Order: sequence, then C-alpha cells, then structure tokens
Amino acid sequence: MNNHVDIDPAILYFGTPVVLLSTLNEDGTTNLMPMSSVFWLGRTAVLGIGASSQTAQNLRDRPEIVINLPSVDLVTQVDGLALTTGNAAMSSGKAKRGYVFVADKYARAKLTPYGSDTVLPTSVAECPVHMEGMVSSLHDLGEPKLLAVEVGVTAVRVAPALRLAGHLNRIDPDRWRPLVMSFQHFYGLGDRVHPSRLASIDEELYR
Ligand SMILES: Cc1cc2nc3c(=O)[nH]c(=O)nc-3n(C[C@H](O)[C@H](O)[C@H](O)COP(=O)(O)O)c2cc1C
Repeated sequence: MNNHVDIDPAILYFGTPVVLLSTLNEDGTTNLMPMSSVFWLGRTAVLGIGASSQTAQNLRDRPEIVINLPSVDLVTQVDGLALTTGNAAMSSGKAKRGYVFVADKYARAKLTPYGSDTVLPTSVAECPVHMEGMVSSLHDLGEPKLLAVEVGVTAVRVAPALRLAGHLNRIDPDRWRPLVMSFQHFYGLGDRVHPSRLASIDEELYR
C-alpha cells in the first residue's frame, strides 16, 4: 500500500553536481560562483542562476564562461566560496543571510587561475574538468529573480587521469568523482551499482 505523504519543501534540490562558474567582471578579473542547478543536453549546458548575482550581471554584459567541475576532494575550497558574492551592491536578502562581498574569489578559496583557450575568464586549475562556452540565450524563469542560462560549450579540457583507456575523447566514469549537492549538503558518488543497458550504445553516436 502507498503511504506517501504530501509535503511542501522550500527547495527541491534532490542532488546535482556542484560546479564553479568563471565569468568576466567589468574590470577584466574573473569571478567564481559555486552553483549546482546545472544539466547538459548534447553540447549545451543549462544553468539556473539568481538574477542579482554578479555572475548573472557578468553574463548579460560579457557572455563568455568557464564551467569548472570540482571533484569531491575540493569540497573545502568550494565551501570556502559559500555565502560570498562578487557583487559589492548585494541584495538586502543576501546581506540578511550573512553573505559577504569578496572581490578575489580565487584568493578566498586558495584556488589557482589557469588561462582558458577560447574564452577570456580564467578556469580553476585545481578542477579536473573545464568546459569553456558562450551564452546563447538568457531566459527569465516563471519564478521571480531566477534565470535559465543556455551555454554552448566551445572547448573541454580534462585531467588526464579521468580519461577512459584506449579512447581519445571519453571519460572513465569510474575515475570521475563529482562533488554533489543535495539539500544544501555535500556528498560524493558511491560505486557503480548495476550494468547499464543504455551504455550498449556507442557514445560517439551522440555526437
Ligand atoms: C554549493 C553551492 C551551490 C549553489 N547553487 C546555486 C545555484 O544553483 N544557483 C544559484 O543561483 N545560486 C547557487 N548558490 C549560491 C551562489 O553561489 C550565490 O548566490 C553567490 O553569491 C553567487 O556569487 P556571485 O554573486 O559572485 O555571482 C550555490 C552556492 C553553493 C555554495
């Protein structure tokens, strides 16, 4: 018998990867934003971003971006960026929640800028995956002050240790250990749990 109960959660964050977004500030420096409302379809990334963030402002004016993927061992650095904003004129809501303005997010999190190939914002050297891209469109979501940002990925760079042996362009999912956020808390992935029938399709057919 079904004994589910009706609830009204304030957030519906049942688990997604954490990423660090690099975007270009007006003065040419790179801002970093930790976020986790992200998914990919083909070569397009879709990002859910608060409209008053420095990142949203940067992307409206300068559409270049790096989506950096931290592995689970970078959790301390990612957590060091929580409750910070690169927007000096932060909203009163953020101030009430204890956010502070931080101009240099790399220094704050003890992370290292690394030159990008196809875009101006720097990537994060410590992150094993860098996806460079250009914003193709910004959409206001039905909920106020939230944006969905579509990004066309222009280049992907990974740490060699993540590569699947014998393949030029594949990641070994047993080696990739993403940092996952679930309801404001950090998790890692467990082991592979079952053979995958979908994986019988050659990955190249998705290209
Ligand atoms: C792990 C983590 C995940 C987050 N996920 C999101 C998210 O998906 N979307 C969002 O708008 N803010 C998210 N935030 C909050 C932003 O990081 C926060 O609004 C930050 O001030 C934005 O930085 P910026 O103003 O310098 O761009 C997340 C924060 C943390 C620490």
